[in-house]
Amino acid sequence: MRVTDTFVEVSERTNPRVPALRGKTIALLFFEESTRTRLSFEIAGKRLSADVVGFSGDGSSMSKKGESLRDTIETISAMGPAALVVRHKLSGVPAQITQWTNASVINAGDGWHEHPTQALLDCYTLRQARGAESLEGVQIAIVGDVMHSRVARSGIAAFTMLGADVTVVAPPTLLPPSFDGWSHGAPVQVSHDLDDVLQKADVVYPIRLQQERIREALLPSVSEYAAGYGLTANRARALPAETIVLDAGPMIRGVHISSEMADRPNTLVTQQVANGVAVRMALLFLLLGSGGV
Ligand code: CP
Repeated sequence: MRVTDTFVEVSERTNPRVPALRGKTIALLFFEESTRTRLSFEIAGKRLSADVVGFSGDGSSMSKKGESLRDTIETISAMGPAALVVRHKLSGVPAQITQWTNASVINAGDGWHEHPTQALLDCYTLRQARGAESLEGVQIAIVGDVMHSRVARSGIAAFTMLGADVTVVAPPTLLPPSFDGWSHGAPVQVSHDLDDVLQKADVVYPIRLQQERIREALLPSVSEYAAGYGLTANRARALPAETIVLDAGPMIRGVHISSEMADRPNTLVTQQVANGVAVRMALLFLLLGSGGV
């Protein structure tokens, strides 16, 4: 947190650039779409004076020419990057890639599995908003498509590690069979009564329907889901003003979150995004650098 504080301060300078990673190359390998994470890592690397290169989506020779993942990684590694920042639709790909490169590998989101830097920036945003390092006893409600969500999985691990009490609110079809292995042994409560949970929560974290990963009919309809589990305008009006709402984005307004909820003062989406750059600067600095800040 203290290293991130430094980079929040750097980011607020007129010229938000330090020489910490001068001469290092960071390769962004986004095999799956991203707006926030990719740009955040790119800006973070550039603010540290690293050379940042990479591709996203269909931009590699894997997509159309048939090159294997291993050959792709070994080819890129031969160019000498200090770090590979990897997003992939399949769980476990970043871990597998560590077997094929000497560069540091950072997981920028893999399938249903993990999104560790999202969890780090969420924890930083909560600690900043609350003015306290610990999340001991903080009631966090995670609402929506938990089963398919790497954001929920990494968030539950991080929030419970910092002492928060997590309640998950979702229809049974969008819950995993169990939370074993998600929370390092801390209990995770399950509820299907969103309105009851919203009145008790200190923090509410809606999770969008991960349509790109849903392969079967798990819901009667999107509108019925939104009525039961969306953060609707009525729920925004009933929510205590001090309740913090986080959202990893993209926000699907009218489905998992209404504009009334998205745009209220204590919905901290833009703070999450801003902090994401500083958190990723801290991560890159701790992993790769020791130059001047
Ligand atoms: N939060 C997040 O991972 O957003 P992107 O998919 O746009 O990177």
